[in-house]
Amino acid sequence: MEKTFVIIKPDAMERRLMGEIISIYEKKGLRISTLKITKPSLELARRHYQEHKDKPFFDELTAYLSRSELCAMIVEGKNAVAAVRKINGGTNPLEADAGTIRGRFGLSKTENSIHSSDSQEHAEEEIKLWFPEFQAD
Ligand code: PPS
Repeated sequence: MEKTFVIIKPDAMERRLMGEIISIYEKKGLRISTLKITKPSLELARRHYQEHKDKPFFDELTAYLSRSELCAMIVEGKNAVAAVRKINGGTNPLEADAGTIRGRFGLSKTENSIHSSDSQEHAEEEIKLWFPEFQAD
């Protein structure tokens, strides 16, 4: 089974949407195998988004990710990376399909409720970053 890394972001956690979002993945047959609720440091947020360090929105994005609790998860299932990204929808909630998580709950390109890895390689890196105690099998 493929693994991907998912964050239920602060805007969704603050609106108490964690259970509803987890349920969406579960009802699609995906499994939450590891889960942690944590308020990350700004340093961890900056490491997570390091590929965007030269983008104009980097400071806003990392301050947002570290402003309150989030839910970091490992989600497993068939083609989990692609399946989760389809369920999540596009970056901009205004353009995301109406039935997706971002289409339903996202507020802006920053406060768009959910993050997931865009490739298996990034999933492995992000799982190592957020769950250093986790041993890959
Ligand atoms: S890009 O520019 O194409 O690489 O961006 P994208 O892959 O769509 O998004 C990468 C993450 O950056 C966030 N993002 C933004 N934040 C603030 N302002 C603006 N304009 C903006 N554009 C993109 C977006 O929420 C993505 O976060 P993750 O968690 O990776 O989905």
